[in-house]
Amino acid sequence: MGKINASLEGALVSINGVLTPPEEAVISIFDRGFLYGDSIYEVTLTYDGTPFLLKDHLDRLWRSAQGIGLEISWSRQKLREFIYDGLNKVDYDRAYIRIIITRGGGDIGLDPSLSEGQNLIIIFRELKPYPQKWYDEGVSLIVTEVVRTPKKSMDPNIKSGNYLNNVMALKQAKEAGAYDAIMLNHKGQVTESTSANIWMVLGDSYITPPLDAGLLGGITRQRLLEIGTSAGLKVKEENFTADTLRIAQEVFITSSTREILPITKIDGQPVGDGKPGTYTKKLHQLYKNKIKETIEEERKLNSGK
Ligand code: PDD
Repeated sequence: MGKINASLEGALVSINGVLTPPEEAVISIFDRGFLYGDSIYEVTLTYDGTPFLLKDHLDRLWRSAQGIGLEISWSRQKLREFIYDGLNKVDYDRAYIRIIITRGGGDIGLDPSLSEGQNLIIIFRELKPYPQKWYDEGVSLIVTEVVRTPKKSMDPNIKSGNYLNNVMALKQAKEAGAYDAIMLNHKGQVTESTSANIWMVLGDSYITPPLDAGLLGGITRQRLLEIGTSAGLKVKEENFTADTLRIAQEVFITSSTREILPITKIDGQPVGDGKPGTYTKKLHQLYKNKIKETIEEERKLNSGK
């Protein structure tokens, strides 16, 4: 295929179960994933070589498949095997694992029945730590004019390969010099950022919008709702507007690879006192503890096999 971006050197790709160096990893230009974004995907990671919450990610992959009327051609067990085959060949501190299933190729045309078989691509690459400065000082968001796709058009809770809505929002954020964008729904309610869920601290409560607002049910978000509740914190799913977000004491975003990232500026204005807050730090510490516990459990389960 030729040259790949330098940051992808050392990556590994599994195409329908066949491990391939990244510079040779190709699929057909007639693939519906390429032509229409007719695909689903997941992003997960490892800590010390152990996949984190793989079951939750596979559950969501199967839910997304159902959401686009796709019956996945591989068993969950097979997918796990492909993932472990790849992980056994790489030696990263933390691996980024992207699992993509496309509806495949065939004659050109929107009709899904033109597909002649799905493609399964798994990308393994090193997940380098994000700059510590982001966590120490926080990052900035803008409220974008790009409205999040309504649930009835293309439900954001389906993790499909159709991310142009988010790409356009992120483009606007980058042009404004911000880290990411806050996307509102057509009612003006906050949904999420372009690839993470959003939370605010108001009074003594942690609040994140409900799935009804039209957003991806993040796995980190779900874990935090559970961890927060069992630690006796006030965690709630409630709709709010960008105006409320602007008066929050603390704001943060959450995703598998970023964990909890403090937001200290919105549209150029400081959030609270402009520094990452104690509520954010407290929840992040609880999450880190949970990661440790979960990885130890998953290791024990795997060693028992
Ligand atoms: N993004 N919202 C959107 C739109 C996302 O794409 C993601 C994940 C999340 C957070 O979900 P989770 O906690 O399950 O990672 C929320 C991944 C990381 C990505 O696209 O790289």
